[in-house]
Amino acid sequence: MNLKQLAAEKAVEYVKDGMSIGLGTGSTAYWAIRKIGERVREGLTIQAVATSKASEKLAQEQGIPLIPFDRLEGLDLTIDGADELDRELHLIKGGGGALLREKIVAFHSKELIIIADESKFVDKLGTFPLPVEIVPFAKEWTMASLEEMGARPMLRTEDEHIFVTDNGNYIADCRFGVIENPKELHRALLALPGVVDNGLFIGLATRAVIGRSDGTVTVVE
Ligand code: A5P
Repeated sequence: MNLKQLAAEKAVEYVKDGMSIGLGTGSTAYWAIRKIGERVREGLTIQAVATSKASEKLAQEQGIPLIPFDRLEGLDLTIDGADELDRELHLIKGGGGALLREKIVAFHSKELIIIADESKFVDKLGTFPLPVEIVPFAKEWTMASLEEMGARPMLRTEDEHIFVTDNGNYIADCRFGVIENPKELHRALLALPGVVDNGLFIGLATRAVIGRSDGTVTVVE
């Protein structure tokens, strides 16, 4: 059974006619976009924005109406994946590199539903290295500052080249160990010059739909 698909399709039940929807990024959001596309072809009327070029392309292929940001005041609902989530719905995101756009879209959504398989639901965040988006300028200094904060940062690469985000920035994947205080770490990272944003999502998710290996889903609110 595909647990990502299970969670995604359950979450798409929250999408209703007339809504403005944010489309997430990644292999779990993929299933949500496919399901939303199916419902649009069956007559659902929604408008959507995408959090990455990849999701935009998929949405277009699926026939989901995409609306420019300046024609929307905000969103009713965003459905997105996560790399880790805890019981308080604090998240680590950005494994796919789309964290900045995902965070902007989540912030402007009345509701953010996180979809995940059960392996991502953890007691404490931190096993997954925290993606930190940094500007290319003086990246060595920014990486050194991250190290001084207690991280083991690794500049993300793809096909032997530095990975570049949709916004033209780099990603430093930072191992901090167990993150005891996600709020504090989030604040400290944002205070560092050179850091654009980071993959900690605090107080943004309103609900999580988790696919379990026994075929059930758990909804955490
Ligand atoms: C993309 O930047 C990420 O935030 C994804 O939402 C997250 O990495 C989850 O991806 P998967 O659903 O592919 O695991």
